Amino acid sequence: MNREQKYRRLEQASPEEMSALRKKVEDSGWRQTYHIQPITGLLNDPNGFAYFAGEYHLFYQWFPLGTYHGLKYWYHTASKDLVFWRNAGIAIEPRDPHDWYGAYSGSGIVKDGKLHLMYTGNTRDRDWNRRSFQCMAVMDAAGAVTKLPEPLIDHVPEGYTEHFRDPKVWKDPDLYRCVIGAQREDATGTAVMYESSDLLNWRFAGEIKTGLKHFGYMWECPDYFELDGQGVLLFCPQGIEPQGDRFRNVYQSGYLVGKPLNRETLDFEHGAFHELDRGFDFYAPQTMEDDQGRRILVAWMGQAEIGYPTDSHGWAHCLTLPRTLELRDGKLVQQPVRELEKLRRERREVQDTLTNEKKSYAGVSGTAFELICEFADVNAESVGIEFRAGETERTVIHYDFERQILTFDRSEAGERINSKYGSTRSCRVQTKSLKLHLFVDTSSVECFINDGEEVFTSRIFPHPDSTGIRFFANNGSAGLKVAKWDLA
Ligand code: FRU
Repeated sequence: MNREQKYRRLEQASPEEMSALRKKVEDSGWRQTYHIQPITGLLNDPNGFAYFAGEYHLFYQWFPLGTYHGLKYWYHTASKDLVFWRNAGIAIEPRDPHDWYGAYSGSGIVKDGKLHLMYTGNTRDRDWNRRSFQCMAVMDAAGAVTKLPEPLIDHVPEGYTEHFRDPKVWKDPDLYRCVIGAQREDATGTAVMYESSDLLNWRFAGEIKTGLKHFGYMWECPDYFELDGQGVLLFCPQGIEPQGDRFRNVYQSGYLVGKPLNRETLDFEHGAFHELDRGFDFYAPQTMEDDQGRRILVAWMGQAEIGYPTDSHGWAHCLTLPRTLELRDGKLVQQPVRELEKLRRERREVQDTLTNEKKSYAGVSGTAFELICEFADVNAESVGIEFRAGETERTVIHYDFERQILTFDRSEAGERINSKYGSTRSCRVQTKSLKLHLFVDTSSVECFINDGEEVFTSRIFPHPDSTGIRFFANNGSAGLKVAKWDLA
């Protein structure tokens, strides 16, 4: 892709090109039914997630004209219930000197009856050197967005490179604060903090002092919040080598839990780095606290630098379902928000005992469904489920009780996704019974294990006829309980 193609602006596309592109997207058999997806082009990070004027607002990084990472706009979606979203059009256009080469990721906060969107303006100088600015756009209750003419932060502090982006802002009792993803001049990643009394004038407070001094070359999309009196720092380190079952994706996404961040010294005493998700397609999560006090997370269901089967259909990627976060034994637990029950249509139930067999049940099949499946009283060596299954296709979740390893296998899921990063993912789960809570859409699955202790988020690209669901127990028996709903 040359620069000209990459940085094409919407107005450079003719009406004929746009309608042909839209037609191509509409014809794609892998369009989702209940996930946020782009009308055309490529979606990446969720941005500006906030509750404002009686609605949830969720923006995302958008390149309208192709399925590569071109010129980024902010696209706006809104919802009263986190379930049914309306497309509200472009919110931030990269058309000013401080964001000419992309309105990059950022966050939202409500002040004085307006939603303030703080984001990174990406620019390039004559020699194509990157320069990053932290900018602001303000949205009123009617959805009109006005950019502030000058950036809020117009230079990178000493000691850091221009890989300086993705401000996540919050309000403390004394001041507004934000964390920004950064790269030190020695090419290691970190997160820094700024403070402000008015959201407009920002003071560089310093680097968050974690115990991870050499942990990747760049930290993208940091987020900081407190839950149950604990501090949580989320971020996406780039450049981490795989270790056994961990860090198998091109870039990682995870968190540290510790004592609340010391706002004076910026000391953050924390435990180990945990991955947020065990699947393939999860990155750049962003959280918000809603008016009910819930901490809600949404992420990009995708990864950079990988080709996906919908690329040739003119669109790429979607967002995950919104999930609530809670701390359980020092780890984050994710659960789909309860409002998603509104999607439930026809319900099917099954109760059975599986003995060394694989079984399917009448009416338990589909392409877009929610399924809760519990294996109890197990003396089998392993149990599991196959779904979006046909004669030659299936996506498999398999749990081995002896090794205590859960494996998600998409090697036969349908059309292949770049397999350089493998086609199975595994993680350790210690349990005597197993509960799988699945949200399957036309081309994705989100699987919550044992009430959100682990989550596997993945795109899959099966044939529309692969609608089968099968349950199995190997070398022994297991009690099975299933509830399944079609989702609309
Ligand atoms: C993460 C990221 C961010 C950046 C944005 C650009 O996926 O690279 O760091 O702001 O995407 O689209």
